[in-house]
Amino acid sequence: APGTMPVALRVNGRALSLELEPRVTLLDALREHAGLTGSKKGCDHGQCGACTVHVDGRRVLSCLTLAVMAQGKAITTIEGLAATADGDLHPMQRAFIAHDGFQCGYCTPGQIMSAAAMLREPWGPADDDVREAMSGNLCRCGAYPGILAAVQEARRSSAAAGQ
Ligand code: FES
Ligand code: FES
Repeated sequence: APGTMPVALRVNGRALSLELEPRVTLLDALREHAGLTGSKKGCDHGQCGACTVHVDGRRVLSCLTLAVMAQGKAITTIEGLAATADGDLHPMQRAFIAHDGFQCGYCTPGQIMSAAAMLREPWGPADDDVREAMSGNLCRCGAYPGILAAVQEARRSSAAAGQ
C-alpha cells in the first residue's frame, strides 16, 4: 500500500513480515498487525506501563517505540514469556497468581513483563527498590501490595535458582 514499507520483526522467536507506515508504533504493530493483543494500550503516551515488552531482553514501552526501530531485535511479549520447553508459566506469572497481584488484570501483562525484566537489573533487595523499579507501571485497581509480594517472591526464587 502507498506509504507503507516492509518491516521484519522477530516476536517470541517467530519471524513476522509486516507492511507498515513508518510512524506505526511497536504496540500497534503487535496488537493490530500481528494479532498479539496481550500488550495493552493504556495511555499510549509512556505513562502507564501497560504496553511493556522486552526488546533484546530489556523492558521497553512499546507505545513509545517505532516498529521500524525494533527490526533486527528480539521482541518478547507476554504471549511469549511462558514459552519454555515445558510449556510452564514463567515464575513471575506464577507469583502474580499466588499473591493476587491483579484485580481487573488490565495492567497485569505490563506489570509482569516489567517485573520479569527487573530480575535481570541491578536493584537492591528492599521493598522500596521494587516500588521504584516498578514505578512506571500503574495499576488503577491499586493491586500494589500483591504486586510487590509477587515480585519479591519471584526475585527470591530466581536468586535461589541461580538465575
Ligand atoms: Fe504505553 Fe501507557 S500504553 S505507557
Ligand atoms: Fe486493574 Fe491493575 S489490576 S489496573
